[in-house]
Amino acid sequence: MTLDSTPGTDVVLSVRDLSVVYDGADPVRAVRGVSFDLARGEVLGIAGESGCGKSTLAYAVTRLLKPPGRVASGQVLFRPADGPPVDLSTLHGEALRRFRWNRVAMVFQGAMNALNPVLSVRRQLADVFTAHRPELRRAEREDRCRELLDLVGIGPERLSSYPHELSGGMRQRVLIAMAMALRPDVVVMDEPTTALDVVVQRDILTEIDRLRARFGFAVVFITHDLSLLLEISDRLAVMYGGRIVEYGRAADLHTAAHHPYTVGLLRSFPRLRGERTVLHGIPGSPPDLSRPPAGCAFTARCPYAFDDCHHTDPALLTAHTTGPTTRAACLHYDPAVRPDGPPEALHAGRFDPDPGPAPSTGGAGR
Ligand SMILES: Nc1ncnc2c1ncn2[C@@H]1O[C@H](COP(=O)(O)OP(=O)(O)OP(=O)(O)O)[C@@H](O)[C@H]1O
Ligand code: SF4
Ligand SMILES: [Mg+2]
Repeated sequence: MTLDSTPGTDVVLSVRDLSVVYDGADPVRAVRGVSFDLARGEVLGIAGESGCGKSTLAYAVTRLLKPPGRVASGQVLFRPADGPPVDLSTLHGEALRRFRWNRVAMVFQGAMNALNPVLSVRRQLADVFTAHRPELRRAEREDRCRELLDLVGIGPERLSSYPHELSGGMRQRVLIAMAMALRPDVVVMDEPTTALDVVVQRDILTEIDRLRARFGFAVVFITHDLSLLLEISDRLAVMYGGRIVEYGRAADLHTAAHHPYTVGLLRSFPRLRGERTVLHGIPGSPPDLSRPPAGCAFTARCPYAFDDCHHTDPALLTAHTTGPTTRAACLHYDPAVRPDGPPEALHAGRFDPDPGPAPSTGGAGR
């Protein structure tokens, strides 16, 4: 499966057919044949339910995956603006250490609690410079630490604080500051705002956007919150069962989702504008990735499933329908299987092809 960005796009990271396995008595195939291109300076959102492989993908892309996890196949190419592409699998030792934080930095899931509780903010920020910019003198390091806190909207007096003296939002800002310390080309953020209340979340997202506009780094933003991603992303990848099942411009995916899973996700939260619609959840649970199904992983939960879905794993193909398009891994968009295209109800963005009497109404819709 390939997933190229628009021709002519300045790509900073290319992921090709990446698969990750957690070894064990029942190996878990957490990421399966994932490909995407990240353009310089863009925000790529990655959405999907718990356990679909989002964090595993982030670890594999940043070379932070630890045993029993291993990259089983595929490639991650980093394309610096100032040199030839680098295959990340070839980096080891000092070269890998230099690459991390300098080029691609990560804000970890649950990282708010990952700051060292016995070290001050000053010490933890300064450590990044000591490790990666050893040539800096002490006074220069101090200046850089102050500047970093200032960038994320925290006063310099907080340099002397310890993590327990900071609010959750402030701790998350410190971690974002650390990720940006060396001006990386890419920042991978794994659920950076999930544990925060919506007001703090909003402030931090505004901050990230401001910093991105100023420094031009690309962001891979991971969350299960599709509504949030629709707002902040340039492009979106929806993951299910270790695979990308839909991929496209966020605006297109919002107005014209094609994959039944994305349609179901969109129907799971109320809209602020448009006509009122019936809210659905997606019944059932995700597949066991130690025994991924032979066909489409969504079959057991899909209201549009038909016989072929049980044994044919769909490729991610451009959905040729009227209106905005995306790429979707669903057999209804494979002309070799369904020459007449998708059913009308799916094309119209309904999760339930036969809605019956409305159980409840909420919000508004498409
Ligand atoms: N160390 C591990 N050993 C074995 N299996 C693992 C390990 N870490 C994750 N997994 C499995 O890999 C799959 C993907 O997990 P991952 O944490 O990447 O999902 P996620 O989409 O980030 O979920 P969440 O939204 O809950 O953070 C899951 O089935 C999970 O149980
Ligand atoms: S391939 Fe079949 S089961 Fe999978 S999403 Fe499409 S219709 Fe549903
Ligand atoms: Mg995760």
